[in-house]
Amino acid sequence: MTSPIATSQTLERLLVLESVRLTEQAALAASHFVGMGDKNAIDGAGTEAMRAVLGDLEIRGRVVIGEGEMDEAPMLYIGEELGRGFALGYVGNALEVDIAVDPVEGTEVAAKGLPNSMAVVALSERGGLMHAPDIYMDKLVVGPPAAGKVSLEYSVARNLEIIALSLERHVSELVVAVLDRERHTQLISEIRGAGARVKLIGEGDVVAALAVAVRGTGVHALMGIGGAPEGVLTAAAMRCLGAEILGRFMPQNPLEEERCREMGVDPQRIYNTAELASGKQLVFSATGITSGDLLEGIRLFGGGARTHSIVMGLSSRVVRFIDTVHLQNAGARVTVRA
Ligand code: FBP
Repeated sequence: MTSPIATSQTLERLLVLESVRLTEQAALAASHFVGMGDKNAIDGAGTEAMRAVLGDLEIRGRVVIGEGEMDEAPMLYIGEELGRGFALGYVGNALEVDIAVDPVEGTEVAAKGLPNSMAVVALSERGGLMHAPDIYMDKLVVGPPAAGKVSLEYSVARNLEIIALSLERHVSELVVAVLDRERHTQLISEIRGAGARVKLIGEGDVVAALAVAVRGTGVHALMGIGGAPEGVLTAAAMRCLGAEILGRFMPQNPLEEERCREMGVDPQRIYNTAELASGKQLVFSATGITSGDLLEGIRLFGGGARTHSIVMGLSSRVVRFIDTVHLQNAGARVTVRA
């Protein structure tokens, strides 16, 4: 039983800063392995740190997007229950929270010391984030001006025209982020054929989507196939920013088709932002691990570290960029400019 104060109305206010703490700690832990060439070590460090912070929150949390199913992930597995609200003898009012995590989004680039990796989390009231299978998803992401106007059923050229019109520019002035994968050969030639430019990204379509949703990054759309869990995380951010993601689940084999059926996911359907992240209360936070289009990466200095995060809530309509100095020993000092 929750008290009147611990309703979903307060979820955003109570958890917005906690969500930053979550991604900051995951990014800090992961940063020790940046450039070390070990994907598992970097992912393990981020996951463990995130789990420790989640375990200490006054919530009854349930992982809906995590590191995999229970039998394939030692922690932050889908269905895992976390938070002090589950502790034996806990007295208090714990919020019921659904949790979507990607402790290291862009594991490969982080392991190689390349740009654009970050720690990501989204939180909502129960049922506010789609429980999506860990398969591929065909995605189209556009900023607020084109939201509600594009469709995955339209041709690439038609979508580009709509985006260009919404931004009052020519198709030739559009830049579309696409994951650099063989499966996108046709898509890339369609984008170029329509006259737009392609920005090939090695990894990390969540950060690319964030860049599309805000102004001034020089990226105007994201197209192509990436991970479905990342699609749900993206949807949480897009709802807060008034932008749009459209996604179609892409099972690759009978096993994945079966998984979709079990989870009530229809691969024929196109899901929109509000279906992927339907929460009335949503919080999204990301902290840079390596520097990228939107966020600075972790900067270590004698005795401490500096982190850069973006955090937002759906109903608060506030987007914060948070620059945090973490003093790790008594002699460490804050520098005003990094
Ligand atoms: P990780 O979080 O596992 O590092 O995923 C990185 C990522 O690039 C996602 O951003 C993207 O959606 C997905 O992998 C693409 O998958 P693939 O590398 O199989 O094309």
